[in-house]
Amino acid sequence: MKITGRTRLAGIMGWPVAHSRSPAMHNFWLEEQGIDGAYVPLPVRPEQLEHALRALPALGFRGCNLTIPHKQLALSIIDRVEPLARRIGAVNTIIIAPDGSLEGRNTDAFGFRETLRETVPDWKPASGPAVVLGAGGAARAVVAALIEARVREIRLINRTEARAELLARALANPSSRITVLPWSDRDRALAEAGLLVNTTSLGMAEEPALEIDLALLSLSAIVVDIVYVPLETALLAAARQRGHRVVDGLGMLLHQGRPGFEAWFGAPVRVTRELRAAVLTTLNNPH
Ligand code: ATR
Repeated sequence: MKITGRTRLAGIMGWPVAHSRSPAMHNFWLEEQGIDGAYVPLPVRPEQLEHALRALPALGFRGCNLTIPHKQLALSIIDRVEPLARRIGAVNTIIIAPDGSLEGRNTDAFGFRETLRETVPDWKPASGPAVVLGAGGAARAVVAALIEARVREIRLINRTEARAELLARALANPSSRITVLPWSDRDRALAEAGLLVNTTSLGMAEEPALEIDLALLSLSAIVVDIVYVPLETALLAAARQRGHRVVDGLGMLLHQGRPGFEAWFGAPVRVTRELRAAVLTTLNNPH
């Protein structure tokens, strides 16, 4: 990479931020497209988030991504929040307008939709209820995408049921019924489902395993895990062994980066096998 006086800048703010795979992804695209640009990790403490965001236009940045713990806090700092990000309750992409104002978007729902479209293009929202495990920020984005796809019934299951109730209320929509079920009902909830999505951190490296019995899940159902370290979680391995089609979490991570890149650097990008390989290398060799 060559830095010139005209290099376009974007980055990711987080605390910590060193674990983020976004620099590998965006710099891969910059190089692939031959764009004079750079995407840098920006370690920013939560108490400095407002200063850091407000400094971006002065520093000539086109925008940035936000990761833990800034995604919710940013809502109260920036100038405009797109309605979807407001409903999801989190902003992961900031775009700086020509007048220096900050606009916030959430591209996780887009990332989820696009990874399904790419991996299981024949999935039909009408194929049966969708079971979603978890009620954090990722679950909100997944549920928003399922509502947008017009899935008629979403069975939402979280260890802390009250959090699932809050999510169901925040995203309530006449075209999709969100049924909140207790965590202990997760095996039974799989009956007739067309899609199962794990959005919890269970199954992630160094986290406890997700304990779930897939026996009642129809073999035509698709199983998605948004965890991507490891890429093949125990859930996906068990589902694959039973004959389900499975979708890993890397696709959602990569697709969610596209709208930001396109807004900052002005070029459309694709999720290719080469990109997956480049980001996978960083997953296998952290830091
Ligand atoms: P994110 O924003 O990435 O979705 P999060 O808000 O921390 O992350 O959400 C983590 C999810 O994993 C939550 O649904 C959490 O359940 P709670 O709402 O009950 O905390 C779920 N989770 C984490 N550890 C869990 C465990 N040991 N058993 C069941 N669910 C767990």
